Amino acid sequence: MHPGLYEVSFLLLLLHLYFAAFICTTGAGASSPSLFDGNLELPRGSIPTVSLEHLDPTLPPALPTQTPHCSLVVLQQNFADIVGAPPASASYAHPPDCPFPWTRVVLELSVAATDLQESRVAAIWIDGAEVLRTATPIPMARGAFWRVHKDLTRYTALLRRLADGGGVISMMLENSNKVLPGVFSANVSLHYYRGPVDDERSKSVSNAAHPSVRSLYREPADLVLPISKPDGQYGSGFWYRIDNETGVESTTVAIPRNTYRAVLEIFVSYHGEDESWYTNPLRNNYIHQSTAAKVSAPRANGAFRQVYATIDRRYVGGHVPFPVIYSSAINPVFWSPVVGIGAFDMPSYDLDLTPFLALMLDGRPHEIGLGVRSALPHWLVNANLHLWVDYWSDAVQAGPVEYFAPAIQMNRNAEWRNPDGQSEIGAEGLERFSGWVSWSRGNLTTEVRHKIKLRSQVQVQNRGAVTQIDFILKERTMVTVMRRNQWLARAQAVLDAPMQVQTAIVNAAGRPAMKKTRLFHQLMEVVSLSDGQAGATTTTELTDRQDAEGSALVGGRWGSGSSRSSYQYRDGSKCYSRNVATAGGAVIQDRKASCFAMSDDA
Ligand SMILES: *[C@@H]1O[C@H](CO)[C@@H](O)[C@H](O)[C@H]1NC(C)=O
Ligand SMILES: *[C@@H]1O[C@H](CO)[C@@H](O)[C@H](O)[C@H]1NC(C)=O
Ligand SMILES: *[C@@H]1O[C@H](CO)[C@@H](O)[C@H](O)[C@H]1NC(C)=O
Repeated sequence: MHPGLYEVSFLLLLLHLYFAAFICTTGAGASSPSLFDGNLELPRGSIPTVSLEHLDPTLPPALPTQTPHCSLVVLQQNFADIVGAPPASASYAHPPDCPFPWTRVVLELSVAATDLQESRVAAIWIDGAEVLRTATPIPMARGAFWRVHKDLTRYTALLRRLADGGGVISMMLENSNKVLPGVFSANVSLHYYRGPVDDERSKSVSNAAHPSVRSLYREPADLVLPISKPDGQYGSGFWYRIDNETGVESTTVAIPRNTYRAVLEIFVSYHGEDESWYTNPLRNNYIHQSTAAKVSAPRANGAFRQVYATIDRRYVGGHVPFPVIYSSAINPVFWSPVVGIGAFDMPSYDLDLTPFLALMLDGRPHEIGLGVRSALPHWLVNANLHLWVDYWSDAVQAGPVEYFAPAIQMNRNAEWRNPDGQSEIGAEGLERFSGWVSWSRGNLTTEVRHKIKLRSQVQVQNRGAVTQIDFILKERTMVTVMRRNQWLARAQAVLDAPMQVQTAIVNAAGRPAMKKTRLFHQLMEVVSLSDGQAGATTTTELTDRQDAEGSALVGGRWGSGSSRSSYQYRDGSKCYSRNVATAGGAVIQDRKASCFAMSDDA
């Protein structure tokens, strides 16, 4: 079909559906508390135009009133029909009038779409070390655009190297024009800030703005080593592809002998059979199948996944990923123009490997492996190894203390009489690792405690017409640094991520016609850092919530929907909130508020 016609018919369809939904919700009235009653303030008499800007209402990494000392476009690329092509890359030359040090460096990815296109996943690397994983929205019109900002303070070591001798910035966005004509046109820029960027205290827990258990440490690492495909620049990118639960991909690295702390930061995205793994039911026969049969049984193994790492093939910890909903999932209209939680800046997952330093301080190469438990094809993973070195020692000593990593307790139940039935998965795990490192600050022991709890329930009723999905993930990570029996510093991150999806298929003239969906998704994260038993504690709290409801044509590509997003961030010295409501692809309400100098400053 001619692309122009496609667009016109799509817009008419969208407006038509929007009208239909509008009449329905207002007609139903407040008296019928049906599952799909809207409670949004829909504008009367006027139809907002579909907004071209897609957004994620999170805490901006730098206040808009602050101008960067210097800004540099480091990569410009049109991503057209490029499946299988190596990453786009550009050599970096640092501007001489922008010398180190900087108080903050912010990455900006600015993308515009020339036409309709699917949602894609993209990543940006500096010399093979990933700094951003992002999922694109679905451009629903020509000229759709968005911007992603990310604080790169954590990657100071990479930035300093770039400034010293240059390097290579790469980006992958595997687009295809087989079905839709849209080309993604991207600019990648770096903004360097000098002087005070933010208040002192919130800077100490840098960029806790988005979902992750990241930045548990006040000072960025001295070295960041890529755990990614070494030849990624010329091949299929730096990320490894994981197709099944036994596949482990590894990189060999040698670390400095004076390393006193190590943190592995893992980036993941899921594709193909696992694109929406968090909604997978568990089928009766799955548990008893052979591995080969499991691989060929699509989406039948339930909603538990764990990304994990190994050192020389020994398990050293893992995380259940936060379920970022891509713009193609559930009902695409929910994610336009506000994308799913974490979609623009997908969370990465930290594993503190300090207790395992004894395995790696011999100056020899070691294998760091990455895998995904219960993976179906396919996952794209790679990692960064953040290392802190002791400049006052040539070599430090280290030894293990405790290794406690029992198998995660899994509870699986499934009762299906196709198509109806239900399944449930419960997972609970606690692991504890500790080890000592003797360096210039003394002989310190680091203890990592990590607890996870996951429950996933899928229920199908009315001969497949009604589906209810409940997913909840809770994680608690605590890292304590001790000297003898006294603790010196403690970092704790608590994550709570519930999701509910209800779907009902409505028949018209005896045939399934519309799929109505309602969604609730939330991320709550509390991160606290404490210095010593009598020292100060800094706490950041984040709640990011989305509610959406709408309808889609069964078998069709488009539908109508409305959503509400509520983002709230607070730390010891400031708070920020933003509430955005959308309907029919347009923003109908957008409220921002921020405050400084919160209570416990005295
Ligand atoms: C990229 O930068 C060029 C100017 O160098 C600008 O014309 C273009 O609109 C930008 N594209 C996006 C998507 O920001
Ligand atoms: C699992 O994936 C790995 C590659 O990651 C591959 O070598 C292996 O054959 C796969 N196993 C099965 C059972 O398909
Ligand atoms: C460091 O402390 C641990 C016990 O906490 C001890 O086993 C180890 O020998 C000490 N290392 C050195 C180099 O003193």
